[in-house]
Amino acid sequence: VNGKVVIPVVVNVLYRTAAENISDSQIQSQINVLNKDFTATNSDFKSIPAEFSGVGANVDITFELVKINRKSTTKTSWGTRDAMKNLKRGGLDPTSPTTTLNVWACTIGGGILGYAQFPGGSSSTDGVVVDSFYFGLSSAASAPYNLGRTASHEVGHWMNLRHIWGDASCGNDLVSDTPIHKTANFGVPAYPFVSTCLPIHNEMTMNYMDYTDDKGMFMFTNGQKARMSALFVSGGARSGFGI
Ligand code: ARG
Ligand code: ZN
Ligand code: CA
Repeated sequence: VNGKVVIPVVVNVLYRTAAENISDSQIQSQINVLNKDFTATNSDFKSIPAEFSGVGANVDITFELVKINRKSTTKTSWGTRDAMKNLKRGGLDPTSPTTTLNVWACTIGGGILGYAQFPGGSSSTDGVVVDSFYFGLSSAASAPYNLGRTASHEVGHWMNLRHIWGDASCGNDLVSDTPIHKTANFGVPAYPFVSTCLPIHNEMTMNYMDYTDDKGMFMFTNGQKARMSALFVSGGARSGFGI
């Protein structure tokens, strides 16, 4: 009960090609990115515009790689319906999902970089999927998704964060210190990016829960941190991870 949340991580690699069989060091590079992004020690954290620097958060959650599972398969792509999470469907079942974050690395297909399960779902499919090509600080993957931020975004969802635009036009992400966004932003929008939602304000395009390029996203907010932290206390939806 020292208040520290350390998330054990199991990475499940499903591969057909040698490139999909990402290396141990590539996997560790992804864990390192998560540790930086969730403790505000990412080198670009200092790039937060002054307007938003007061709400930039050290989420203070860390990740520890405990195991890598690998399986050779004949599938060329896995889609987004959880087949990779199920031995009977050719994938790999999650390991101890109520006490471990399971990450699957595989080819998803359809231009999808990753997807996640929100808290409260079935433990048999709990975890996040990150396409092998966008996994880690990748030399194989090319910009703009090669800095490991797909996993930071997906783990945000796994910790109950919504997209910053609330998946609706000028929608609500249930976080009070993130500004209202019209819709998803892509690329690296120049600051200030003036919203077309009223009243007039700038959008926080550098938030991990937008859709910008990896180099364009580098912050969570205090409000997002509060949503994430609430999961891990007694009675929270991920209290199995303990504090
Ligand atoms: N499209 C994915 C999702 O909705 C992830 C987007 C990640 N963005 C990035 N720059 N890596 O979950
Ligand atoms: Zn998302
Ligand atoms: Ca908000």
